[in-house]
Amino acid sequence: MSVDFSKNAKERPEPHNAEVIGSIPDWLQGTLVRNGPGIFSVGETSYDHWCDGMSFMNSFSIKNGKVTHRSRFLRSDTYNSNMTSNRIVVSEMGTMAYPDPSKNFIFKAITFLNHTVPDFTDNAASNIIKYGNDYYATSETNYIRKIDPFTLETLDKVDYMKFLPVNLVSSHPHYDREGSVYNVGTSIAEKAKTKYIFFKIPAVTEKDISFQSNDVCKLFMFNMVTLKYTTATAVKQKEGRLECKAEVLCEGFELPRINYDFNGKKHQFIYGNIVEESENCWPSEPVFVPRPNGESEDDGVLLIAVINCIPGQSGFLLILDGKTFKEVARAYVNTELHRDMHGFFIPHAK
Ligand SMILES: [Fe+2]
Repeated sequence: MSVDFSKNAKERPEPHNAEVIGSIPDWLQGTLVRNGPGIFSVGETSYDHWCDGMSFMNSFSIKNGKVTHRSRFLRSDTYNSNMTSNRIVVSEMGTMAYPDPSKNFIFKAITFLNHTVPDFTDNAASNIIKYGNDYYATSETNYIRKIDPFTLETLDKVDYMKFLPVNLVSSHPHYDREGSVYNVGTSIAEKAKTKYIFFKIPAVTEKDISFQSNDVCKLFMFNMVTLKYTTATAVKQKEGRLECKAEVLCEGFELPRINYDFNGKKHQFIYGNIVEESENCWPSEPVFVPRPNGESEDDGVLLIAVINCIPGQSGFLLILDGKTFKEVARAYVNTELHRDMHGFFIPHAK
């Protein structure tokens, strides 16, 4: 059955108990926060690209075998401007917006030129990341939005450009065991001289330092290594250019995740999805949660938010065994779920 991926979502900010089928393991306690586009049209206007939709966050809190679900739109400046105007007035990656459609061609041309050196959107609809003790909704511009990952409320707007010479920053950082974060941004300020800026945000133990610290961002160097067990290569050319070639492991494999405890170490399992058009259920990116003191790389569960097209049934959180892929439990959330991008699991202290 087909799904309308351009349908606007409805938020449900208060926590609702899900109906759990099966038995959730006692050790699995935490909150999965997922992010993705959820509003695709405002008034008479609509986005030209699915990724441009406005951020819609969903959370699944697992506690003592029970699951609660809630959802909220990110109250970005972009969201507020669009909703106030009842039309899309902020440009996105694939959608050019015009502040006032009643204006003439010259006004539109000026608007277009102004957007060629844009103030980017803060519609952070791609991922949830953690810097220090704080959580942020992110896309890939210079703006991120701090959120409360438990209530999904929108907090401060942070501009990377106040700390680093970057115009665009990846929403896929890496974390080390201490909680330091490594990320990459692009500086496009000088035409034809694009630079990549690698930076580190150190782990913190005190509350709420995030970007406020002066020494928060440090550049680090890239190490190129030779790996014998893959045909993927990264070779520095004479002129200094780095040429990367991937090794294709599987065609059509989307949204890969690993047991992140094995990040940077030799590992053998990747979890993702390959969706057939005819299926009634559309799975999200699978997030692997390792069992505490697990004995192997695949000792844990996968958390998957599933869009359910079967009439009369709601979306659900699916919990699969990481070794066998057998269903451990599912939690029907009694509302529609929507296609999203990425998620972050926050373990709760027991
Ligand atoms: Fe991504």
